[in-house]
Amino acid sequence: MKVLLVGSGGREHALAKLITSSQMSAKLYVLSDYANPGLMREAELSGGKLFVATTTFPENVVKIAELVSPDLVVVGPEEPQFHGVVDYLRERGFYVFGASRRCSSIERSKVFARYLMWKHSIPGRLYYVAFKSLDDAREFVKYAGDVVVKPARQVGGKGVRVIKDTKAFLSEAKHQVKSEAAFKTFEEISKYGDVDYSVLVEQRVDGVEYTAQVVTDGSYVLPLPLVQDHPHAYELDLGYETGGMGCISGPGHLLPFIDQGEYETTQKIVREVLERLQEEVKERYTGAFAGQMMLTGLWGPTAIEYYSRFGDPEISCLLPRVESDFLEVLDRAARGALSGAKVGVSDEVVSVVKAVAPVGYPVSRDEARGHPVTVDVEKIRGLGCEVLYASVELGSDGRTYTKGSRAFEVVCSASSYEEAHRVSELAVSYVTSLDGWPLYHRSDVGSSELVEERIREAERVRRVYRSKHLRGTLGEFFTVWLPGRGVVGNPLLSPLRWEDEDS
Ligand SMILES: Nc1ncnc2c1ncn2[C@@H]1O[C@H](COP(=O)(O)OP(=O)(O)O)[C@@H](O)[C@H]1O
Ligand SMILES: [Mg+2]
Repeated sequence: MKVLLVGSGGREHALAKLITSSQMSAKLYVLSDYANPGLMREAELSGGKLFVATTTFPENVVKIAELVSPDLVVVGPEEPQFHGVVDYLRERGFYVFGASRRCSSIERSKVFARYLMWKHSIPGRLYYVAFKSLDDAREFVKYAGDVVVKPARQVGGKGVRVIKDTKAFLSEAKHQVKSEAAFKTFEEISKYGDVDYSVLVEQRVDGVEYTAQVVTDGSYVLPLPLVQDHPHAYELDLGYETGGMGCISGPGHLLPFIDQGEYETTQKIVREVLERLQEEVKERYTGAFAGQMMLTGLWGPTAIEYYSRFGDPEISCLLPRVESDFLEVLDRAARGALSGAKVGVSDEVVSVVKAVAPVGYPVSRDEARGHPVTVDVEKIRGLGCEVLYASVELGSDGRTYTKGSRAFEVVCSASSYEEAHRVSELAVSYVTSLDGWPLYHRSDVGSSELVEERIREAERVRRVYRSKHLRGTLGEFFTVWLPGRGVVGNPLLSPLRWEDEDS
């Protein structure tokens, strides 16, 4: 069976491994934006090949697909979906695993995702207001209180500003910060011409984050185990937001801090969003879908955003845990024949993934770029781990160079987090820089201390949402009393309006 995989990074390397380990003896072809040595190797070992071209140009992808004539095309990242790559391929008769342009608007437009949840009163929704004009956004944030200012579009994990504003005496200073945030967001979003709204201001919540990924053919929904990502750059969740510095998964479908009831509520939210999305865009959803969730005191499971693809690095975390033939699952989804499919998961095994990034990422990517690095794959495998190549490319001298983002992911698994964490720390030591430019990773991902910390945090919010549940006030936003201003209501309304012509 011939498979064409579209995409360039760590997520695609994980998918490549899942595809080539199939019983269906796949010949893997990859279309990547750059010569990722890991993807190149997987393709060549399977008898296929890696092509380099811009993956967001539908014409490029179709050209390669016509050359390869694959039985299945798997589109990994969101940007090709936003650019209509999946639609273009389907129109030409290819079977594709991946969301169409209209279906992927659930990720592309954070406003559309919020709108859909409000329109159908789906639990786990946050109050929000979306703005087209910068002046309106700036005026609004003066009174908005405790909010998050975000780009209204998915911009690759950059630009979300969480502004905790619970101290009345700091209000003036916070106005400045919010106004500046609105301005920067407006600037960033103006690069993209495919959303109507630019600034999204929404209610700030706190709690424990996790990702719920599923595979669907539009009618049958196959849940995968929950995964927790670690988006902050440094230990103890400090520092800048990144694309994800590592993740953990297991045991079973749960996480140590998410219980069965919360898992089920999460799955219900994900299913309902999928169903309503398909009604709204009048198209069948085929591919991976994920809810990026937070367990909050407000609702319990709460939706932060949705992905129209597998999470990166979330899918890597499932690599050592999936026991069934994953290519068969992808193929059946693409053909609309997923009904009855199962993904066997080794319940007792937990996994820990750690990203290794060049210093400079995520704020000074130019400095983080162009450093030769090497990885001792055999040593890492000797530990029972795997290594995935992410933002690295093959140089003309045959060496591997950083491209400015997360360079590698080590993937480890064991019967306990303690052990998986221990081996993951050994595994990262086999990733080295050849020019002395420092690399960093988060040593706390998967550690007992951090897992315990999440359990405590989840317990705290669980007490709050359970008491709200008993009082029938789940999802209700507090009013607050401010000195000199009295009771302040919720300034965030829910505009049930959706004008993005593009969706
Ligand atoms: N409403 C919110 N309340 C609190 N934190 C939030 C909220 N929205 C986002 N965040 C934080 O910001 C991070 C990034 O936001 P998200 O909407 O996922 O954007 P992206 O991943 O596209 O940058 C989240 O993982 C979460 O930690
Ligand atoms: Mg996110």
